[in-house]
Amino acid sequence: MRGEAETLLPPTAIEEICEFIQEETMTSSHAYSKTRRLWMSRSLQLFMLCCVSTFMFSAQEPQRLPQAKPSDCAACHTGNSPLPKDHAPTAGLVMADCLACHARGGNNSLTGKLPLSHVHQLQGVTCGKCHDDVNSPEPVAKGKCMSCHDMEKVAATTAGIKPVNPHTSPHYGKKSDCNLCHHQHEKSENYCSQCHKFDFRLP
Ligand code: HEC
Ligand code: HEC
Ligand code: HEC
Ligand code: HEC
Ligand code: HEC
Ligand code: HEC
Repeated sequence: MRGEAETLLPPTAIEEICEFIQEETMTSSHAYSKTRRLWMSRSLQLFMLCCVSTFMFSAQEPQRLPQAKPSDCAACHTGNSPLPKDHAPTAGLVMADCLACHARGGNNSLTGKLPLSHVHQLQGVTCGKCHDDVNSPEPVAKGKCMSCHDMEKVAATTAGIKPVNPHTSPHYGKKSDCNLCHHQHEKSENYCSQCHKFDFRLP
């Protein structure tokens, strides 16, 4: 009870605040004084500076542009290139072309290095095939993944993965949510590693 009472403002403080608000509304309803106008233009300048620098800063972050070609890295990566300097040109390539130099499971594999959304887009799975409304995208539920991926088949392809098959377990059977491990727009994560030491290589 006491702690609560102490956090309340004393009546005098409330009076002071009311007076201050009254004064403020009075001055703003009258003609501006010269100093006030100067202050206004200063704050406008500051505001514009903030806008411009925010714009310049955000231009460095890659953008999720639904209309960009997936192989045109620079369209969205307007800041630093995501590719090494002397990389072969990627314009017009699809995932199969990348795999010629970046074989799955090989030393130069892209697994874990390229966001899964990119892997999808380079195979013709555009933004709109996952997001119903690309102009205002919402997180995608598992049902959408299942419309293309048959879990029986997926679990069969990974049956030989050591130490255990990531797509089946005594806890969840074959029903675990894909998004627990596979993320489309950030690094995927090993959900089982909370409790087990399974050394998975997650796409
Ligand atoms: C449609 C826009 C778009 C295109 C085209 C695109 N990227 Fe990206 N990329 C992004 C975004 C946005 C991120 C941040 C993660 C996210 O939101 O998906 C990202 C993240 C990455 C990352 C993870 C590291 C980082 O910088 O965050 C790599 C690597 C990458 N992109 C490589 C590429 C390569 C290589 C290409 C061309 C073959 C490419 N991207 C084309 C938008 C794009
Ligand atoms: C002609 C062969 C070739 C093709 C085709 C190719 N790459 Fe590469 N890529 C390389 C080589 C070589 C490297 C450098 C590997 C290194 O430095 O370890 C590299 C590096 C990368 C890297 C940086 C990896 C890292 O370790 O940070 C990314 C990302 C990448 N490539 C994406 C792609 C994508 C996406 C495609 C298809 C659109 C593609 N590459 C097509 C040969 C190729
Ligand atoms: C293979 C399916 C897939 C593709 C392709 C894909 N996304 Fe996503 N997207 C997801 C999933 C799943 C999420 C939920 C969070 C996550 O995994 O990062 C998401 C989250 C998002 C979000 C955040 C939504 C929110 O409210 O949190 C945006 C924005 C978005 N995606 C835009 C795009 C755009 C634009 C593209 C194409 C350049 C794209 N996505 C391609 C599956 C996809
Ligand atoms: C419109 C169809 C479609 C949708 C929707 C879709 N995928 Fe895919 N996905 C593909 C295709 C095509 C491939 C490439 C062929 C393959 O490896 O099966 C692929 C590949 C993958 C891969 C393997 C990538 C690799 O590098 O080995 C994973 C993991 C994956 N998808 C997970 C998901 C998840 C999780 C979702 C839901 C958020 C999803 N997919 C939604 C069509 C789809
Ligand atoms: C416990 C984490 C985990 C969950 C949950 C998970 N996966 Fe995977 N997935 C993996 C790992 C690890 C691999 C890579 C296995 C390998 O080849 O080393 C993989 C690989 C894949 C592949 C590529 C298989 C291939 O080699 O052709 C597809 C497709 C895929 N997952 C789809 C899904 C879908 C769809 C769901 C949801 C129903 C899902 N995954 C849920 C961990 C997971
Ligand atoms: C919250 C902790 C937790 C998480 C997360 C978890 N497990 Fe387990 N798991 C356990 C425990 C505890 C046991 C032992 C239970 C028993 O023996 O009855 C076990 C046993 C197992 C076993 C049988 C024993 C063995 O080690 O061979 C398998 C296989 C397994 N888990 C796979 C998985 C997979 C795959 C995932 C991720 C999709 C996962 N677990 C996530 C706690 C967890």
